[in-house]
Amino acid sequence: MAQPVLAVVAAGAMGAAVGKRLTTAGLTVLTTLAGRSAATRKRAADAGLEDAALADIAARAHWTLSILPPSEAETFAKAFRDAHQQAAPTRPVGFADCNAVNPTTVKRIAALFKGTPIKFVDAGIIGGPPQGDYDPVFYASAAPEDTVELDEFASLKQWGLNVKALRGEGAGVGDASALKMSYAGITKGIIGICTTMVLSAHASSPATANALLHELSDSQPVILKRIIGSTPGMLPKAYRWVGEMEEISAFVADGLSHAESSSTQAQIEGAGEGLTHLGLARLYERVAKALTDTEEKGEDTAEVKVLKNFVKDAKEVVEPKK
Ligand SMILES: NC(=O)c1ccc[n+]([C@@H]2O[C@H](COP(=O)([O-])OP(=O)(O)OC[C@H]3O[C@@H](n4cnc5c(N)ncnc54)[C@H](OP(=O)(O)O)[C@@H]3O)[C@@H](O)[C@H]2O)c1
Repeated sequence: MAQPVLAVVAAGAMGAAVGKRLTTAGLTVLTTLAGRSAATRKRAADAGLEDAALADIAARAHWTLSILPPSEAETFAKAFRDAHQQAAPTRPVGFADCNAVNPTTVKRIAALFKGTPIKFVDAGIIGGPPQGDYDPVFYASAAPEDTVELDEFASLKQWGLNVKALRGEGAGVGDASALKMSYAGITKGIIGICTTMVLSAHASSPATANALLHELSDSQPVILKRIIGSTPGMLPKAYRWVGEMEEISAFVADGLSHAESSSTQAQIEGAGEGLTHLGLARLYERVAKALTDTEEKGEDTAEVKVLKNFVKDAKEVVEPKK
């Protein structure tokens, strides 16, 4: 593809950093700022993104990357499709949903574009926003008949988008999102389970939490190091992980209902598996609320205090002062 015009909606923590990677590579990158906050406007300006109406984006951008809160993904895709109808550009246009949504949601989004000239790619971002030499991976999959579109999206790698196309047996729309769900279900699931157990141990008694810390240090040092490394970063992101855990839960439940080998009874009994991440959604909701209360009151609330102290004490055990 000759130098493409791209669009990234929106300029959040991820979208702005991705946009900056692309503008640094010399591309024109559009975004739409109507109704957006001052923080988003500033990130867009810092990344060199050009503000444009959605119809303008639909007319000018070769590919539009949807990178916004997962709950907005479907509404935005509909708005893009309608804007495209209005703009009616003569050349082909591509749309990549890059949000942490479950495969069923992304299949519904793909269906919105059926019968339109818009090419659709399912993408799932694994990793944090691009920074310095670091780039997250954009796993991408497409319908089996859309390999050319998938190749074209993968070719954006030359402009700094770290795309890995997911191909092979059975791969299609929904699989890049399934990969993202599976990966996040493991990584954020582990952090969630550790957080729940630290809070529960402390609710039993501070002595229990302290004994847990020392037992982890003796018998599970890798897990303790993981708690130390991931808890501080989890606190400000907990609000965003609520929706993601709910999507993962739906993904697990969908998988159970489609399992060919299981009987209806086994599916009903097994559906409890889908509740694992739903429970973690409630945990992250509790942590997010505790953090908001902390910010409002200007002092750490109970949960925040417990988690911060656990990390502080664990650091002292793992890295004793000389
Ligand atoms: N950040 C990461 O490390 C990371 C990693 C992997 C995947 N992702 C995925 O990337 C996506 C975005 O995450 P993020 O971290 O960038 O979120 P974020 O920092 O919370 O930013 C969300 C952005 O979307 C905008 N927005 C909200 N509602 C919108 C709407 N209805 N239409 C258009 N824009 C809207 C927000 O604007 P306002 O400021 O006006 O609200 C903000 O600019 C998510 O699907 C997430 O799963 C993120």
